[in-house]
Formats: sequence, structure tokens, C-alpha cells
Amino acid sequence: MSKPKVLITRVVPQEGIAMLREECEVDLWEEDRPIPRDLLLEKVRDIDGLYSLLTERVDDELLDAAPNLRVVSNMAVGYDNIDVAACTRRGIPIGHTPGVLTETTADLAFALILAGARRLGESERFVRAGKWTTWSPMLFLGQDVYGATLGIVGMGRIGVAVARRALAFGMRVLHFDTLPHPELEVMSGLRAVSFDTLLAQADFVSIHVPLTETTRKMFSTEQFKRMKRTAVVVNTARGPIVDQAALYIALRDGEIGYAALDVTDPEPIHMDDPLLTLDNCLIVPHIGSASVATRTRMATMAAENLLAGLRGERLPHCVNRNVYG
Ligand code: GLV
Repeated sequence: MSKPKVLITRVVPQEGIAMLREECEVDLWEEDRPIPRDLLLEKVRDIDGLYSLLTERVDDELLDAAPNLRVVSNMAVGYDNIDVAACTRRGIPIGHTPGVLTETTADLAFALILAGARRLGESERFVRAGKWTTWSPMLFLGQDVYGATLGIVGMGRIGVAVARRALAFGMRVLHFDTLPHPELEVMSGLRAVSFDTLLAQADFVSIHVPLTETTRKMFSTEQFKRMKRTAVVVNTARGPIVDQAALYIALRDGEIGYAALDVTDPEPIHMDDPLLTLDNCLIVPHIGSASVATRTRMATMAAENLLAGLRGERLPHCVNRNVYG
């Protein structure tokens, strides 16, 4: 019997690729840039399984171009790059990688909270520019994290992991979510509040909601105006949750104090985006889950999902479980 054909859309940790090579005929895109759309549509023509990343749009057009496709496995916890309804209509299960990247992403969110508080981006650029001529009592004064109020928007796994870190740092933690989280009652020191209260009281706001039509531009002019003028906004979720033009104005005009972003809209950010001209904005290139151990675990977990789908078994981590009826 011939082996199933799969396309892996980028080089991922070898452990994941090796698992697929044992059972499948693998087409691996080795360039370090996304497959151009036209070529992607050609490459999916005879595949049984797609191992995708958040850089691939999986929509009706792609699914129509791939008549044999039986499973899509996204090497990410987020899946806003995938038209879930379009896959479900065709009976195609979608895999993703929840859980394994929670702590690593929470680490980066906390690193950005600390970096925003203590102005690490600006001060590092200052040293490299040769401007460090003397120790100065007034140089790069920032904010304390200890004793400050953190507002977490979205109390899923990553939001909760950030809350744990914040409590250990002596922060007061407020949170807001549209979903109830009864499990949080076991964590003392947390307070559920309205979105407006969180915006008004938080010294740091960390975003952990998924990107949906409801959360798109959830942070815009109005929300920035409600925040403290010193507020630090941290986004490790998805760029379009923040209205980037409004963020620029809020930072430029001192409506808020600082933004530390792991995600932008679009990605990569355009080099002429005015955010890049601001000293009070730190941007890193979507590296939330980027530790060796976590990316390796994500790669093998995505391979497990893909292999299960190809064997006709239920995916261990399925986004659209209703596909099974
Ligand atoms: C990364 O952004 C992910 O969703 O895993």
C-alpha cells in the first residue's frame, strides 16, 4: 500500500519530521519563508495530510485545491489562520498544540512585563549607540512591578500561568474574561472585574484572548483612553486584537506609557510602521513559544495529530471535535 502524502510547510524540529517520515511520503518546504500561495495551492493537490503553521491560510480555496485532504495539523495552539467551519463542512479534523506551550509563552509575557516596566529596549539601544557616558541617578527610571496591579485579559491556560508568576512577584492581579472560570477560585489573590475596571486600575495589561471576530480590535482608542497614562500594554496573543494605529497614537500622545509586543498586525510588521519610531514600544518577532523544548514538543504533538488523522483515528488534540458527529 502506498504511503500517505503529507506537506510540512516549514522546517520544524527534526523529531516531528522524523515521526512523519516513518509512515508518510513527506514534502518538506525547506526555505525559511512561507510557501508562496500559488505554489502552496499546487503542492496540496495530491496530499492526504497538511502540517501547517500560523503563516498558512487554510480556507475554502486551499481545501478545494486539495481533494484528498483528510487532516490538517497546525503546529500552534492558535488556529485563527484556519477556516474551521470550512474544514468541518468537509469532514476534515484540525489538530493544534494546546498545553505544551503555556508556561513558555507565560514566561515571555512576563519577560515583556518586566522589560516594559524597566525600559529594557530603550536602555539596550542606548548602550549600543555609545551614549552611556556615566552612571546617572536619573537614567531610565521605570516602574516597579512589585506592588503594581496586573490586569489579565483572557484567563485561559496562558492567562492563568501569567497570574501565577505575577502573584509570586507581589503583584495584585485583576482579570477579565467573557467565559466563567470556576477553577480560578482555588487561586487566591485574583479578582475578576469588568473590562472597564481592569482598564482603569491596571498598571500592566497583558492580553491572552484568542483572535476572533469579537476580540479583533478589542483594544482601540476608547480602551487606551480609559487606561492609566503610565499603563504598560503587553500582547503575546495575536496582533489584530490591538488596533495598531490607535496604539501608535496612544503611545505617541502619552495616553498610555508603554507597549511590549510579541505579535503585530501584520506579521512581520512593516518597516515603515510608525510604532517602530517610538522609544516606548518594544517589539519582538512572535517568539512566545520559542524555546527548544517547547517547539520540539509542539512539533511532535502536531505530528501525533496528523498521524492519528491519517490512520482514521480521533486526533488527540482536535479543534473541531464536532467533525466526529
Ligand atoms: C503561537 O502563536 C501559537 O498559537 O501557538
